[in-house]
Parts: sequence; structure tokens; C-alpha cells
Amino acid sequence: MENFEFYNPTKVIFGKGAETRVGAEIASRGFKKVMVHFGGTYLSETGVLDRIHESLKTAGIEYVDFGGVVPNPRLSHVKEGVALCKKESIDFILGVGGGSAIDSSKAIAYGLANEFDLEDLFVGKTTTTRIAPVGCITTIAATGSETSNSTVVTIETKDRGILKRSYNHDCARPLFAAMNPELTYTLPDYQTASGGADIMMHTMERYFTQAKDVELSDRVSEGLLVTVRDTVGKALKNPQDYEARANLMWAGSLSHNGLTGTGRINDFPVHKIGHELSAMFDATHGASLTATWATWAKSVYKSNPARFARFAVKVFGVELNFDNPEETALAGIEAWERWCKSIGMPTTLTELGCVPTEAQIEEMAEKAASTGGGRIGLFHSLDKKDLADIYRRAL
Ligand code: NZQ
Ligand code: ZN
Repeated sequence: MENFEFYNPTKVIFGKGAETRVGAEIASRGFKKVMVHFGGTYLSETGVLDRIHESLKTAGIEYVDFGGVVPNPRLSHVKEGVALCKKESIDFILGVGGGSAIDSSKAIAYGLANEFDLEDLFVGKTTTTRIAPVGCITTIAATGSETSNSTVVTIETKDRGILKRSYNHDCARPLFAAMNPELTYTLPDYQTASGGADIMMHTMERYFTQAKDVELSDRVSEGLLVTVRDTVGKALKNPQDYEARANLMWAGSLSHNGLTGTGRINDFPVHKIGHELSAMFDATHGASLTATWATWAKSVYKSNPARFARFAVKVFGVELNFDNPEETALAGIEAWERWCKSIGMPTTLTELGCVPTEAQIEEMAEKAASTGGGRIGLFHSLDKKDLADIYRRAL
């Protein structure tokens, strides 16, 4: 087991009515004026926004709404939010939605607490430990941004086209996360499935490392993966299945708050591959991962077939072939592909609706490799040429 730090300060307020508690939560911390930051119209159509406003008013908190976040949130919109916060003397940002609204809120908070150009932060030219206070209300079980240290934005750069990049620091873990599984009842099926796949991937990216003797982390991971494997289908079959929605929502946080990565070192290669697809084609995040994971897996499993065989047995119930663990490993990858298909997720780029040209493949491979200084992947190191091959074979 590797040395590790585990820091998870976010207060989780979980269950029915959680969103009505945000006013008291913010007031108890002494804040006075809130920006409520969100995406489209489902919040007002479903009455959730009214309940949030009511909770703030009851607690004596002033607020300003700032909507318009899009999936794969844009830095240009974040900058508008920073300007609005300054104009309105906002002292707390409440993100309401999924990873996009919450990450956009975190990015605004970085902008409020620092003087540099935010683009420099996300392209790695500067760092910070300063951020304005953020809380959130989660409406989709997916990214785990509500308790994660990560902020992911899409940047229309001055010199490198569109980049999707993250900045990771513990200061970005929200002060609280209000999580009412009922709020996820209105999700389109595609988002339920994409979110479920992303939850799986956050643990799988951590699970597929070369770390040894991480039995507890492995068993926690396998328990989470089996739960999500079984629960996404239940939520799709009955969108108002509270227990399925609740298990998914809690799994989303636990899968990306660092718990399943304790004792291991990882670098999320499939996320880096998927982020380039989202930057170039605006692909939905979870779907960009299912479209490429199996190709990545088939490219790298020989670096540690036993690891993939264990995944096959423990997560998908594949029978272990003692004489040929590579066969078991491949059967596990195929089981994952069948699971993705069963919930309507793509397993190829064509199914994802993104068919890059050869020039686009080269560009995505170069940008993905550059996030690791030329190579990514600690389970199996990949350079630009390897990454281009993965994009090609995933077609
Ligand atoms: O745009 P709005 O109106 O918010 O609608 C959203 C959006 O269209 C809709 N939606 C969300 N909750 C709903 C709902 N529709 C009806 N009822 C509800 N209850 O669903 C769509 C997708 O929302 P989005 O926030 O984009 O989804 P998700 O949570 O999957 O977030 C994806 C973003 O998070 C980043 C991704 O890269 C992507 O930019 N990630 C953030 C991470 C983090 N901060 O830790 C880690 C992840 O790996 C990921 O990279
Ligand atoms: Zn993800």
C-alpha cells in the first residue's frame, strides 16, 4: 500500500428535502449574499429553484440567480459569473446541478479569490490554494464534484484551440453538499446512464493501477462497482425508484472523493482520452469514457492480466480460468461492454457520434499526451502514437 492523504471536509446533507436546508446552512456560516448558479430550465419547471429561494429568504440571505451553464462548462461564462459576483458583492456561491454547474461554481470561486487570468490556472501556468466559499445541491448522480477536489472547464484558448482541462486542489471541495435523490427523478435516461458509467469509471481508473496490497481499497471498490452495475438499470426501469437513486447518488460521491484511491497512485488516462473528445465534439462526459475504455483496456491489459482477471471475477462474475487468466481478463472487458450496451451507452466512437478525421485524431492524441508532459498512464505508459492508435481502434 502506498502512503496517502485522505481529506474529505465536505458536509453531506443527504435525503429527502435536503435542498430546503441550504439557507440555514449558509447563514450558520455567516455569509450574507449568495449567487445561485445553475444550467437550464428544469430547476424552475420542477419547482426546485423556488424551494431554494424560499430556503434562502427564510434564513435572511440575499441572492442573485446566474443560470446558463452548459454541459462541459465554458470558461468565458465563468468569467461573466466572476464579474457579476464582484458587481453584486457576493460572498458565497451555491452551485445547483451536475458536474457542469458545480465545476462552473468552483471556477467562479477561484476567479473571485484570485487576480490572475483563470485560463492560466487551468492550462497549468499558475497554481493557487485560494478559493471563495462554495456549497452545492446535486441533481445528478455522476461526477462526484460535490465532494471532489476537481474543477473541470472547457477553454476557448488564445493559441491552442479548445481545451478541456482541470485544476485539482483540496480547497475546491465544497463546504457542503445537499443531496436529495428525488431531484434526480427528472433526469433524461441518457444522463442517468452516462452518470452511472462515470461513477463506475472513477473507481475503475483508480482500481487499474499497479499498486500491491490494497485489499481494503479493492474490496470497497468492488462493492461500489457491483452496486452501481446493478442500480443503473433499476433507475432506468423506474426513474422514481428512490432506493436506486439514493444508492447511485451516494456512490457518485464515494467514487470520486478519493476513498477508492487510498493506497494507490493513479492518473486517470481514460478521462484524459475522453476529455479530448468532449473538447473537440462536445461529447457527454460519461459516454466519452464508455466509448473508449474497452479499447484502452484491450491495449494495456497485458501489463497486468491478473488485475483485469480479478475485475472480471469480482465485478462481473466471470468464472476464473486458472490456466489462462488472460482469457478471463478479456471476458471481463467484454462483460463491461455488454453492460454499457444494456444501459444504452456507446462502446465505440461511431456509437458516440464522434468520427474524427486523421488530423483530428493526431490533434487529440497530442493534446492528451501533453497533459502528462508527453506520456500518460501509470498502469501502462502511453505516448502520442499509442493514444492515436487507441482513438483509431475505438472508431
Ligand atoms: O444544463 P442543465 O440545465 O444543468 O441540465 C443538465 C445537463 O443538460 C441535465 N440535468 C442535470 N440534472 C438534471 C438534469 N436534467 C433533468 N433533471 C435533473 N435532475 O443533465 C445534463 C448533464 O449535466 P452535467 O452537469 O453536464 O452532467 P455531469 O454531472 O455528468 O457533469 C459533467 C461535467 O463534469 C465534469 C465533466 O468533464 C463535465 O464537464 N467532471 C467533473 C469532475 C469533478 N469536478 O470532479 C470529475 C468528472 O470526471 C468530470 O470530468
Ligand atoms: Zn468522470
